[in-house]
Amino acid sequence: MGTDVPESTVESPRWRATDGGSLTRLAETMSLARKMAGYHFSSYIFSHLWLLKIVFAVLRRVRPISIFGKLVILTKMRDVREVLVRFDDFTLGEVIEPGMPWGPFLMTVDWSEQHQRERELLQSVVKRDVDPQTIKKIVAEECNERIAAADGRIDMVADLAEPVVVRIAADYFGVPPLQGDKRRMARATRNLAGIIMVNPPAGSQPWIDSRDDMIELTQLLLEEIAVAKSTIVSHQGNRPDNLLTRLAALLGARAKPSWFDEDWVRRYLTGLVATGLATVVRGTAHTVDQLLAHPEALREAQKLAVALDRAEAYEQSIGNTASEGDRKSAAQRVKQSHDALAQYVYEALRFRPMLPLLVRDAPREAVIANGTKRARVVPSGARILAGPLAAMFDPDVFPQPSRFDPKRPIESYIHFGDGARRCFGEYVARNAVMEMVRALLRLPDLARASGNGGRVRYEGPAPCSFVLTFNKRAMGAQER
Ligand code: HEM
Repeated sequence: MGTDVPESTVESPRWRATDGGSLTRLAETMSLARKMAGYHFSSYIFSHLWLLKIVFAVLRRVRPISIFGKLVILTKMRDVREVLVRFDDFTLGEVIEPGMPWGPFLMTVDWSEQHQRERELLQSVVKRDVDPQTIKKIVAEECNERIAAADGRIDMVADLAEPVVVRIAADYFGVPPLQGDKRRMARATRNLAGIIMVNPPAGSQPWIDSRDDMIELTQLLLEEIAVAKSTIVSHQGNRPDNLLTRLAALLGARAKPSWFDEDWVRRYLTGLVATGLATVVRGTAHTVDQLLAHPEALREAQKLAVALDRAEAYEQSIGNTASEGDRKSAAQRVKQSHDALAQYVYEALRFRPMLPLLVRDAPREAVIANGTKRARVVPSGARILAGPLAAMFDPDVFPQPSRFDPKRPIESYIHFGDGARRCFGEYVARNAVMEMVRALLRLPDLARASGNGGRVRYEGPAPCSFVLTFNKRAMGAQER
């Protein structure tokens, strides 16, 4: 193909050079096209999980810890947890680094003491008793507005979940939309998440888009951090209370670690944008998709959503004037309804986990499942697939795994990973997903839109659309 050059041009050195150039370009284009095909295939496999489910089910029976050269596939919950917990033996940095051109972030730190220090610093600006409520409020408000504006049909990705996470970024992280444009920011969250979940090939359009977004985000963050610092230094009144301003305030502390500086704040906030926004969109879309795929579970979840609304309304109505016993029992009722609904969310997500695969490297030879019949020696330099999807279909921990069972112990699920790298933003994710799912469950006659629109559609691994319908008129009647 590439050697098909007209004779007349072969004589001329100038043409030869040009042809050499175009041949190189052709080879590059073909190589990129091949890589893009691989990228589309990986993104498909990462989101439509039927193939992985079959592979894991077969391997679990034949060889629960399967080794193919330097690729290790785990299929049992115990082994997945073991690998995630053994921080020093199974590393993440090199897996994730190519997707993080903005510099080191928690996920690339493989030195356990340093990882712990940096994680603790980030954790120190989270107000455990206040922040979950703040997130719930942000999400509930945004959902109410978006649903009120919808006329019986809503794209739950583009018109609900993405606006919600863009608002979480602005109001809670302290990262306003790029160019003040919420749609633009939503696109950026997709692009940035893509490079963490399934890395697009260098030079491809999704790769270029994500690099452009990164440059803009970096610029924006530098400006926002500078503004926050100057308001703190000049003691100018009301600065917003968010993760960015809290971290900026720490920059001024007298005793602070040498590695903690403005660049750290920029890198970590970029990391939160990349790990904390499209993940929530994907988690919510997958949960709703699977509730709709299990109609009986959907009906029960809808009843629980109503029960939770009532329990919360009652708790609010009795206020502080009620006796301590009454307040306790009202709070207990809220918790019970909340936990019961959370079971449905976790179980639905099990069928389509937000992150079906987690990856680790083995820098040295190591034994997994030591002392058991399935023990295997993992070679040095191996890459390990420790999949929550595989683990959450292990019948030892999830009996009859293909059955939707909302009564499974909540601690059996590993949607948020395990060990020292367990999801940092779990408190954000749990509250955001739950509030969005609740808002949708309240809608009368909730259903998928017909055709392809009613399926979760993706750009790379990030959802970009999922259209639902509901009965707006019945909603009005409900409110009356
Ligand atoms: C439904 C939503 C989410 C799910 C299912 C999820 C799941 C996970 C999982 C499984 C891990 C472990 C990765 C590994 O071991 O390789 C993880 C890590 C992480 N997540 Fe999430 N996540 C979600 C949302 C969020 C949010 C909202 C944030 C930020 C606010 C966030 C920040 C992080 C960070 C920083 C890490 C790395 C922790 C470390 O290395 O110490 N995630 N997440």
